[in-house]
Amino acid sequence: MDIDWPALRAAAADVALRAYAPYSRLRVGAAGLTGDGRVVTGCNVENASFGLTLCAECGLVSALRATAPVPAAAHDGAAPGLIAVAVVAGDAAPLLPCGRCRQLLLEAGGPALLVDTASGAGPLAELLPAAFGGADLSARRDS
Ligand code: THU
Repeated sequence: MDIDWPALRAAAADVALRAYAPYSRLRVGAAGLTGDGRVVTGCNVENASFGLTLCAECGLVSALRATAPVPAAAHDGAAPGLIAVAVVAGDAAPLLPCGRCRQLLLEAGGPALLVDTASGAGPLAELLPAAFGGADLSARRDS
C-alpha cells in the first residue's frame, strides 16, 4: 500500500490542534494508517495529576481498536494493525514517540511499523531494538 506521508503528517497536525496540554503546553498529534486503509488519530490529554497524562499515541491506539471491524470472537486480537505512523508537535514537525509509546506502537503495528522522523520513515524496530513482547510472555511465564 502506498503511504501518503504528507497526508498522514497533516492528519497528525490537525488532531494536535485538539490536544489538551495546559501543563506542558506541548501539543502532540498522532496519525496512523491501518492495514485496511483507515487513518486513525489521537492527541495528548493532560491531567492535573501529571502522571495520568495520556500521550497522543495512547489515543491513537485506542482509536485503532474502537474504529476497527468487530472481531469474530471476543478477545480476538487479530484486528488490522498499523502500518505507518506520524507523530507531530504543535509546530507540525515530527516528534519521536516516547519510550512507553514505542512499546504501545509495537503491539499495534509490530517491528516493521513505519515511523515518520525528520529524516524520513524507518521501522519501529530501529527505535525499539531488542523489544519485550508477547512472545516473551508465552515463553517465560510459569506453566
Ligand atoms: N507526549 C506525547 O503525546 N507523545 C509522546 O510520544 C511524547 C510526549 C506528550 C505527553 C505530554 O502531554 C507532553 O507531550 C509533554 O511530555
